[in-house]
This record gives sequence, C-alpha cells and structure tokens, in this order.
Amino acid sequence: MTQKPKPLHSIKVDGPIPAHLARSVIEETLRSAILDGRLPCGTALRQQDLADLFGVSRMPVREALRQLEAQELLSVTTHKGAVVAPLIQGDATETYELRILLESEALRQSIPLLTAADHARAADYIEELEAQHDYTEIGRLNRLFHMALYSKAPNQRLLRLVEDGLNEEERFLRFNLEAMGLGKLSQDDHRAMLQAVQDRDTELSIKRLEQHLNRGVEVITRYLATPAAQSRQAAR
Ligand code: NI
Repeated sequence: MTQKPKPLHSIKVDGPIPAHLARSVIEETLRSAILDGRLPCGTALRQQDLADLFGVSRMPVREALRQLEAQELLSVTTHKGAVVAPLIQGDATETYELRILLESEALRQSIPLLTAADHARAADYIEELEAQHDYTEIGRLNRLFHMALYSKAPNQRLLRLVEDGLNEEERFLRFNLEAMGLGKLSQDDHRAMLQAVQDRDTELSIKRLEQHLNRGVEVITRYLATPAAQSRQAAR
C-alpha cells in the first residue's frame, strides 16, 4: 500500500466527483486547506497524488493548480512543481503599497455607482465582523466588506487584481491574528470608510482606506519580525 504524503491526509473527498465539476471542486478544496493552514507553506503538491486523491485525471488537477497559482496561493517552479506559497510574497510593505494603489482606484470608480443596497450590505458585514470571534470568518468577512465597496468599479481586470490582494490578506488574517494574541478587531476603520463612501466623498474615502491598509502593514511587519513568523516563512 502506498503512503499518501502527510498533509494530504487532512483533505476529505466525498465520493466520486462529476467530471464537469472536477476543476472547481479541487480548486475550492485545496484553497480552503491552504487558507486554514492544513496545507502549510512549502507543502509540495504533486499532480499525480492529487489526481489519485480526488479520483480524477491529471487535467482538472493541472487547471485547478493554475488557478491557485494565479491567486498566489501556490508557486510553481520547474524542478519542484506546485508548492504552497509563503504567507506574504516578497516584501509586505511593497505588497500593501500596491494594494493601496489598486484599491484606491477601484474605490474611486465604484463610489458614484454604489446604491443604497450596496451600502446596506457593507454595513451588514461590519456588524457581522463586530460579533465574530472566529478568525477564519473574520478574514472572509473583511474581504467581502472591502469587495462590497469596490464592486461597482467597471474595470473587471482591476477588480480581479484587487481580489487577489484581499485573498492574500485573508490568508494572513486567518493564520496570524490569533497567533499574535490580538483581541477582537475594532471595526472603527471600516465604519469611517463606509461613512465617507455613503457621503460620496471620494477623497476622504481614499484617505481612510489608505490609513486602514497602512495599519495592516504595521501589524504584518511587526508579526513578520517575530521568531515564529520567521520559522514559518523559512519553511518552504
Ligand atoms: Ni479591512
């Protein structure tokens, strides 16, 4: 009997997967396992192991891995194949600088087109975030709140880049807020942003978004300087 590589043991596959759903099932399953840490940074994902695990051919596996690579959850190298990516690719400050540029532009485009229903949806996410203690959910709700504000930006490519950045942050939040012993996060930043958005004050909205993301840089930089983070990042 062949032994499965250990991290894959954590992945449960319920019965045979219909061929037309294979790619999306594999993508979603691996995505959540990477996000919640069952597949840690540096885990190598071999196409054949995954094909065996999911009971499918290698083609949908390859397609799913390509999607996850585009979301920066995997890095693919010629000699090692697909490997679960480190938590923050490269420099955290540069990552956030780029996010500020992209999200500011998405916000600028979106604000005039947002409806009262969009504002109400964003407000609901803030209330859910305020009541939430589970960091997995906090990461998800934070992404949904931000996307609600940017959602009306007509530039779809811009929105995809913005969502990739938020996915990266979601993964970081899930892993690390708890490890850092941070208590429940205040939603003051989000409320202030939403207020400016509702007032259609584009400049103030962007200023508050920048402040919010800059606070994120500080938290991450502080975390990355701790020994636990360094060993985690080095384990590739
Ligand atoms: Ni946020």
